Amino acid sequence: MEFAVEVEILARVRHKNLLSLRGYCAEGQERLIVYDYLPNLSLLSHLHGQHSAECLLDWTRRMNIAIGSAEGVAYLHHHATPHIIHRDIKASNVLVDSDFQAQVADFGFARLIPDGATHVTTRVKGTLGYLAPEYAMLGKASESCDVYSFGILLLELASGKKPIEKVGQGMKRTVTDWALPLACERKFDEIADPKLNGKYLEDELKRVVFVGLLCAHSRPERRPTMLEVVDLLKGESKEKLAQLENDELFKTPQVAEYNEGNDGATAVEGESSDFISEEKDEKKNLKEEAVPEITHNG
Ligand SMILES: Nc1ncnc2c1ncn2[C@@H]1O[C@H](COP(=O)(O)OP(=O)(O)OP(=O)(O)O)[C@@H](O)[C@H]1O
Ligand SMILES: [Mg+2]
Repeated sequence: MEFAVEVEILARVRHKNLLSLRGYCAEGQERLIVYDYLPNLSLLSHLHGQHSAECLLDWTRRMNIAIGSAEGVAYLHHHATPHIIHRDIKASNVLVDSDFQAQVADFGFARLIPDGATHVTTRVKGTLGYLAPEYAMLGKASESCDVYSFGILLLELASGKKPIEKVGQGMKRTVTDWALPLACERKFDEIADPKLNGKYLEDELKRVVFVGLLCAHSRPERRPTMLEVVDLLKGESKEKLAQLENDELFKTPQVAEYNEGNDGATAVEGESSDFISEEKDEKKNLKEEAVPEITHNG
């Protein structure tokens, strides 16, 4: 199933920031998809993995990756027909090419959104730490779920922190719970990844953090669209930036309102459960799968 979805989606998309399909094979039991191999691997390997010690991601590269990956997702949401939601935006699915440009990959979980539909109701797939609360709890998948995951990715890119971190005694803290109070106090030097050694443009970092936090708001209607995210990250409209900076959200820490309906760090338990797959509970949910619900406008 994932194979068919991935091939169908990949055949529809062509964008400089989306990893494109080279070819595929479906013969007997064999299923194979061929992509270009990107020697710089993924954001995950630069931020937390095998490339992290080399500190190859200076601020200019991070900013290019933020804007490029936003453009890739904006293409899926607003320019592909029908619109596509990715459902697994995360650091390991944003690959980095030899020029340090972003290529969003992994369309195995993606869904096509029929014309006029606001969301599709589906069993939850994706990765803990990146899941929008309404999607995790109610299975409502829409563009704004990708926006939420993208917000987490932006905060990760700016701070070098993982979406969820251990804070001792079995407690875990989300990157949003950590960053929101600091952003309200305008302590951007404390948010910036220490690996940047203070070498970043404060205006740009501020933009990435504010946009990231707004994207990861618990209430989907508060989140921007990916087209707005691209504009804001590029800093093209001074007016929009001023509005963003003056948003109520960044005046006083409003962690409770921000995390409405989301238990935040304490809801997350266990080491091995950071990946949710439909396949794992396939037997239990066979009936559910047979009746996908589609909600239409008007
Ligand atoms: N085309 C590619 N070029 C280079 N590295 C890649 C490519 N595709 C994937 N990778 C690397 O392989 C790793 C594993 O990718 P894979 O998609 O199988 O798992 P994942 O992204 O960690 O989790 P998930 O299965 O949830 O997507 C990624 O972290 C990425 O660094
Ligand atoms: Mg992947």
